[in-house]
Amino acid sequence: MLALVTGGNGMFAGDLAPILEDEGYDVILCDIEDFDLCNEDAVRNYILAAKPDLIIHAAGYTNVEQAEAEPELAMNVNGLGTKYVAHVAREIDVPLVYISTDYVFDGEKKTQYVPDDATNPLNVYGKTKLEGENYVKEICERYYIVRTSWLYGTYGKNFVQTMLMHKNDEEIKVVNDQIGSPTWTVDLADGIIKILNMPYGTYHVSGSGKCSWYEFACEIFSAVGADVKVIPVPSVEVPQKAKRPAFSSMKPSIKTKNWKESLKNYLFISELEVD
Ligand SMILES: NC(=O)c1ccc[n+]([C@@H]2O[C@H](COP(=O)([O-])OP(=O)(O)OC[C@H]3O[C@@H](n4cnc5c(N)ncnc54)[C@H](OP(=O)(O)O)[C@@H]3O)[C@@H](O)[C@H]2O)c1
Repeated sequence: MLALVTGGNGMFAGDLAPILEDEGYDVILCDIEDFDLCNEDAVRNYILAAKPDLIIHAAGYTNVEQAEAEPELAMNVNGLGTKYVAHVAREIDVPLVYISTDYVFDGEKKTQYVPDDATNPLNVYGKTKLEGENYVKEICERYYIVRTSWLYGTYGKNFVQTMLMHKNDEEIKVVNDQIGSPTWTVDLADGIIKILNMPYGTYHVSGSGKCSWYEFACEIFSAVGADVKVIPVPSVEVPQKAKRPAFSSMKPSIKTKNWKESLKNYLFISELEVD
């Protein structure tokens, strides 16, 4: 079985590939140097030539802040690019896994989001990812939309690494009025392996439990024994271009590890100093 993974140079794909290989897949990791998602012919020609049995579409325009300044490009990559991938998946009749986001929700709900909850993205990134979801549903019969949240892992820029860059600081301000569920890329990859044996549809795969960015930061510093004073602040004190949902925690559709346990596992594997 051959799995083609878009976004092959990205954070998630780096952890997904060895997990797919352990499951017996041959893996093609492809990225923008192989084809630009904005070029329909390039997308189609590359995938047709590769002849995959499964496509995992992890590529995307993922810079949430920058997307506010480049809405057209973000839509072309996340919306139209996903449409092109979906068309080829249908043409060759293989399952398509599309990685989406908790930012398709507006954060007004008071309990964890489930896949059937109404979407209403607040920022450009969320709108473009939802557009991608809609194309996948419209075009493919054999699809898995897998929404995840607050991803961190070894192979990309993320909140955990940003906090660790501040581990020798005296203090740091972190927002405490956005609640979500941190997710280790390895847990997302393991979740996708399980979901591949389940009916087609939309799933949520996040670390179980929820926290604010402030609580997440406290847990990171505590796990590495860093004596940083974390100061909780409201979002308005940290001006950002993209509006974020105040509450975007999703109920995992399958059993996942608690986010604190996974954070410790990640830090241990990263050979960082853990208490
Ligand atoms: N990170 C999170 O917190 C998070 C949360 C929820 C959902 N997600 C979703 O999870 C997936 C994986 O996220 P990630 O953090 O692993 O992303 P990532 O590290 O930013 O990787 C995305 C990859 O897509 C590539 N790409 C961008 N534009 C492209 C184009 N026009 N044509 C072809 N490839 C292009 C990027 O290449 P360049 O680097 O060269 O641009 C990059 O290698 C994404 O779909 C994202 O929307 C992420």
